[in-house]
Amino acid sequence: MRQNEIINKENLTKEIKALDIYAPDIARKCKAGNFIILRLHEHGERIPLTINDWNMEKGTIKIIVQEVGKSTKELGKMDVGDIILNLLGPLGHSSKIDYFGKVVCIGGGVGTAVVYPIVKALKEKGNEVIVIIGARTKELIILENEIKNLGVSLHITTDDGSYGMKGFVTDELQEILSSTDIDRVIAIGPLMMMKKVSEITKQKQIHTIVSLNPVMIDGTGMCGGCRVKIGNETKFACVDGPEFDGHKVDFDELIHRNNRFLEEEKSTQNRTRSGSGHPCKLINK
Ligand code: NAD
Ligand code: FES
Repeated sequence: MRQNEIINKENLTKEIKALDIYAPDIARKCKAGNFIILRLHEHGERIPLTINDWNMEKGTIKIIVQEVGKSTKELGKMDVGDIILNLLGPLGHSSKIDYFGKVVCIGGGVGTAVVYPIVKALKEKGNEVIVIIGARTKELIILENEIKNLGVSLHITTDDGSYGMKGFVTDELQEILSSTDIDRVIAIGPLMMMKKVSEITKQKQIHTIVSLNPVMIDGTGMCGGCRVKIGNETKFACVDGPEFDGHKVDFDELIHRNNRFLEEEKSTQNRTRSGSGHPCKLINK
């Protein structure tokens, strides 16, 4: 196997692909919550992606990518045997994993891929974990069996009611909180989802962690691209995060900043190989 070679590819949905990549140095060091920044070729932009799983013995890491922009579409088209030019990682602080008691973990859409290793690590620490995963429709639900196999209580929602409970993950959260005392909530998905979760849990004073994925360029705290407002402080998601106290995040500012790049994203998709860089997940509702 060659460094950065794709050794397995799975289509989770039409637009969500799971890739196993040979990267033994990263596999040896990574922990739940860490991410990588990759570059497909020398003209490619830098794409931050959270590591979904890893295998130290095989020297592989798994990433799950949703094809939303030009570069993620290029990545989704790569196949077994292809080599990714650069992989930088593991980056970011890993998730705080401890015994908290009863924890609710929420994955919205492709955010479920980020929640998975956290759920696994929390279970290993003996926590009682309730997982809520939500998607627009049944076909977009990912990692259902993998999460079930961790021995957690799994609740599924779809916006259109095609599978599980009809509604948002926040509806299911409200339901659970009405009957159960919860010690901690971890929510990863669209910014609006994390904002709404944080509003609900703030009222009940339940400590809540969210994972932020703002625009990232260098991933080392130098460029300032990933700055986020946490309480009265400016933090860099790449080196101070990506996880933060959801009750302190200025979600409105982050949503506004991310949406500023939507037009550029559209025009980039119409161009052939461009070097202008911003990451994959710019579409936040
Ligand atoms: P999506 O828009 O289909 O939403 C997924 C689910 O989130 C919905 O089914 C719903 O249950 C919930 N949700 C959405 N809007 C909500 C709202 N206003 N109130 C309450 N709940 C709401 O998700 P997608 O298209 O798969 O996109 C996934 C998002 O996750 C992207 O925006 C991406 O930026 C984000 N993401 C974040 C990270 C991270 O590390 N923070 C990692 C990967 C993806
Ligand atoms: Fe440049 Fe975080 S990505 S400071």
